[in-house]
Amino acid sequence: MDNRPIGFFDSGLGGLTCIPNLIKLLPKEKIIYFGDTARTPYGSKAASTIKSFSRQIADFLVNHDAKMIVIACNTVSATCLTDLRQRYPNVPMIGVIQPAAERIVKTCSTMNKIGIIGTKATIASSAYKQQVHDLNCELELYETPCPAFVPLIEEGIIQNDIMDLTIKYYMDDFILENRLDTIVLGCTHYPLIRSNIKRLYPTLRIINPSEEVAYSIKRTLKEENMLAEDSDFENVFYASDLSENFVNMIDRIFYAEDVKVKFKNLELETVEETQK
Ligand code: DGL
Repeated sequence: MDNRPIGFFDSGLGGLTCIPNLIKLLPKEKIIYFGDTARTPYGSKAASTIKSFSRQIADFLVNHDAKMIVIACNTVSATCLTDLRQRYPNVPMIGVIQPAAERIVKTCSTMNKIGIIGTKATIASSAYKQQVHDLNCELELYETPCPAFVPLIEEGIIQNDIMDLTIKYYMDDFILENRLDTIVLGCTHYPLIRSNIKRLYPTLRIINPSEEVAYSIKRTLKEENMLAEDSDFENVFYASDLSENFVNMIDRIFYAEDVKVKFKNLELETVEETQK
C-alpha cells in the first residue's frame, strides 16, 4: 500500500484528459499534476529542449512525493521515456504510447486502415509504428502531424469554425488518400476535439487511448504493491502559467470537489497558491 499521490505531467492541459478514467477506475488514488502551460507546445520543439523540460518536471514531481510518474504526454513519452526511467530507476514510470498501442492491437484488425494523428515530435519519432508493430506487425498504420491543434486547444479555440477548418486542413486528404476508417488520438490534447472530429467525419472510428492508460496505471501499482487505501493527500494541480482554460478544465473534472490549484513558476522557484 502507498498513499502518496500519482504524479502526472504534460506540456499543458492535455494530460488532464487522462484523469477522469483514472478516477473512475481507482477512486482512492490522489493526483499531483504539472502542466507546463508557460512553455507549451512541446511537439514542435527540439528533442533536447523537450528532454530538459521533462527532467525539470519529473524532478519536481519526485521531490513532491509522487509515488509513480505518468507521462501524460505522447510527445514526451515518444522522446524522453528512456531518459526519465534512467534518471529515476526506482520510481515506476509509464508513458501513454505503450497503452495506446495495446488499445490499437486489442480493437483493430488487418481489415482496418488506421491513422495516427499527433504532434511533429511524436510522428517524427515513429514510436507509434514501432510499439504497435512490436505487438502486431500486420496492422496497417498511417501517420500525420497536426502541429496547430495543441496551441488552439490551449487557447480554448475549440467549438468554432477555426478549429473545424484546421481539422479539415490536416485530416481531409489524410483520410481520403489512405481510405482510413479509424483514427487514433495520439496526443492527450486531442480528446478535447473528439466531438469536432466525430461531427466532421461521422463514419470514422475514433480511438482515445486514455482508458487504457488508466488500466496500465492500475496494473503497475498492483504489481508494485503501491495501490492507495486511505490517502490524506489532496489532489493538487500545478501549472507553470495558470491559464483560465487550465483552471476551467480542472473545474469540469472535479466540479463537486474541493481542489487545490497551485501556480509554480519554474524559473523563479516561487509558489503561489489559490483555493478554488
Ligand atoms: N499533450 C501533448 C501530447 O500528447 C501535447 C504536446 C505539445 O505540447 O505539443 O503530445
